[in-house]
Amino acid sequence: MSEQRVLRIGNPLLHEVAEQVSEFGTPPLRELVVDLWDTMAARGGVGIAAPQIGVGLRVVVFAMRDHPLHADPESIPQTVLINPVIEPMDDTIEDGWEGCLSVPGMRGLVPRYQRIHYMGRDVDGAPIDREVEGFHARVVQHECDHLDGVLYPQRIRDMAQFGFEEEISLAGKYTQLEC
Ligand code: NI
Repeated sequence: MSEQRVLRIGNPLLHEVAEQVSEFGTPPLRELVVDLWDTMAARGGVGIAAPQIGVGLRVVVFAMRDHPLHADPESIPQTVLINPVIEPMDDTIEDGWEGCLSVPGMRGLVPRYQRIHYMGRDVDGAPIDREVEGFHARVVQHECDHLDGVLYPQRIRDMAQFGFEEEISLAGKYTQLEC
């Protein structure tokens, strides 16, 4: 398959609750996953959720390894996560800059749980069960929000901390990648 159009903020499909995947390992599910990887790669993102390409299923993909734009040395394994469930490991909240392929060129300071336990299934239905923190935890929370129709601007506490990446960079602030 191929790169798909990424829906942008304002499109009502981005605010719907996606449906659970009930059958794993099927050709349509594999095609969806390839489309997600191709679209994410074409945009240089670190993650993408199925609703962003107009598919209302609970499927996200993410990966980050030695990304030239990311100063943090941590990496995120290449992951297809289906029907995810997130549990915070404690109450610690961390503010961090986020961007989204559906809100291109913008960045916002978003509070997220610092440490989470997440579970789900891969494309073949095999279980995924991880405890993560930091940017990995942030990306998973951002992607899973997409499955519930939530975009990161809805989580910003101080709208003064939202704007065009170029303006924020000019102000000397550290910005994250789009996902
Ligand atoms: Ni996003």
